[in-house]
Amino acid sequence: MELASARLLRGQIPWRGLLLTASLLTYWSPLTTAQLTVDAVPPNVVEEKSVLLLVHNLPQEFRVFYWYKGTTTDLKSEIARYVRSDNMSQEGFAHSGRETIYSNGSLFFQNVTKKDEGTYTLSVIDRDYNALQMPVQFRVYP
Ligand SMILES: *[C@@H]1O[C@H](CO)[C@@H](O)[C@H](O)[C@H]1NC(C)=O
Ligand SMILES: *[C@@H]1O[C@H](CO)[C@@H](O)[C@H](O)[C@H]1NC(C)=O
Ligand SMILES: *[C@@H]1O[C@H](CO)[C@@H](O)[C@H](O)[C@H]1NC(C)=O
Repeated sequence: MELASARLLRGQIPWRGLLLTASLLTYWSPLTTAQLTVDAVPPNVVEEKSVLLLVHNLPQEFRVFYWYKGTTTDLKSEIARYVRSDNMSQEGFAHSGRETIYSNGSLFFQNVTKKDEGTYTLSVIDRDYNALQMPVQFRVYP
């Protein structure tokens, strides 16, 4: 994953910016600049309310991304996927009927119950077919 992020970042640096970037990199890690991250908004959800699993820095030329319930990225745990070349989303086995997947990577989860609490994993297949995985958690309160 670190390799993939580094490659993505290098690809985005224009020639003219190289000198400036080189000096900035002595202060900031290059991996924090374009790193894929996911936030649960809000992280603590009231039962029957909704939560947005918000994705930042989705690779621009990704091929597919998947959302999974839990940390295992198998078919059984797949909530939904989005295929960029087809501009099409598809529900998986773990879809409960309350999740909406957006082309920007985010997953909207409605009417949560205590059983929904826990970890969800985003998996992105980038242009070079690297899989980037990012977990996110939310808690559910009565
Ligand atoms: C993808 O499809 C949706 C409707 O399903 C449409 O509103 C949107 O403009 C399409 N986006 C692209 C990039 O084709
Ligand atoms: C993605 O799309 C959803 C629905 O339109 C929106 O609520 C969310 O803010 C968007 N996320 C980003 C990172 O733009
Ligand atoms: C939310 O789910 C509960 C059952 O878990 C159901 O009774 C209720 O009607 C649902 N509310 C909405 C707005 O879908």
